[in-house]
Amino acid sequence: MTIPPSIITLDGPAASGKSTIGRKLADELGYLFFDTGIMYRAVTWIALQHDMDLHDEEAITQMAQTAQIDIRPASKNDGRFCDVLLGDKDVTWDMRSSEVEASVSLVSAYAGVRKALSDKQRQIGLRGKVVMVGRDIGTVVLPEADLKIYLDASAEERAKRRYDEIIARGEKADYDEILKKMIERDHIDSTRAVAPLRPADDAVIINTDIPSAEQVFEQVLALCK
Ligand code: DC
Repeated sequence: MTIPPSIITLDGPAASGKSTIGRKLADELGYLFFDTGIMYRAVTWIALQHDMDLHDEEAITQMAQTAQIDIRPASKNDGRFCDVLLGDKDVTWDMRSSEVEASVSLVSAYAGVRKALSDKQRQIGLRGKVVMVGRDIGTVVLPEADLKIYLDASAEERAKRRYDEIIARGEKADYDEILKKMIERDHIDSTRAVAPLRPADDAVIINTDIPSAEQVFEQVLALCK
């Protein structure tokens, strides 16, 4: 039997299928699934909770350096991939709020925030047997990864997925608004000066517009074997 790659990175824009595919792949291989977007969301959430000035890069960077963000296996069966804890407070669903969504691209563009969080991510990733998901994992955090995958899909398809997710949770959603915000976030993520969203030169790019999640998973699994 061939040994699967130990460090696997999965990058791509919001709602391109990274979490679904990454989690399934980690389960299949018995690897750790690590969604790095949660860390950027947690820092943004803390800043909002403390009424910090989101334009104060220095203060937000200092907070990111000391924030105790704990990510543990899911303790509830309510659609979560994992528990996100700040101290002993469960903030898993707060990470998904529209307030966090609206500000996370601004906060994650700060060089100091990126350095603080990507150092932690790198430490964990280098232990191996990991599927790490994000925007810059193959390019910056773990450039030595054994397998790099970049998932992509049109903004329209990704907005539709987000819309369906919100409706499935029993909440209200406006497709046009989601699409507009998705395009704005893509623009900020891919044009920022530090670690912009882009595929690594040696990444395998998979478009997820047409194939089902199952078909994409089979394709990714084939790459591992
Ligand atoms: O994957 P997500 O939607 O949870 O990511 C939230 C934000 O965090 C997204 O706007 C970009 C940022 N992010 C990043 O800059 N680098 C990463 N490795 C992961 C996420």
